[in-house]
Amino acid sequence: MMIGKWLDIGPVEQIEPGTARTLPVRGGEEIAVFRTMNGEVHALVNKCPHKQGPLSQGIVHGTVVTCPLHNWNISLRTGKALGDDVGCVPTIPTKVDAGRIFLLREAVLAPQVPEEPDSADVVRQEKAA
Ligand code: FES
Repeated sequence: MMIGKWLDIGPVEQIEPGTARTLPVRGGEEIAVFRTMNGEVHALVNKCPHKQGPLSQGIVHGTVVTCPLHNWNISLRTGKALGDDVGCVPTIPTKVDAGRIFLLREAVLAPQVPEEPDSADVVRQEKAA
């Protein structure tokens, strides 16, 4: 069911606190929708920025999920790898209204990688003489 630009994906109770459910997207990336123990709901593309592990199968603690493959910690709020690890997975804006979870429709169809303002890497191509 669609309301304006928000996509209604069902009642918040369908996700046990501290777990995630996946949402397949036709023509797009599978999305993992997380519910934290304190009731926050977050959505990320279901691919770890390390080697694309299924984040939905990770362990949720606080607002972090630990990837089931190699234990990277990923922020559910920003999609960024924490600690010494570097990488970022696209996040999908969410809201909970009247006990139902909504995802921003345009982000579901085309999740965006957040800007990396700290990234100053420049790839220079030298011309062969
Ligand atoms: S694939 Fe997630 S930590 Fe390696």
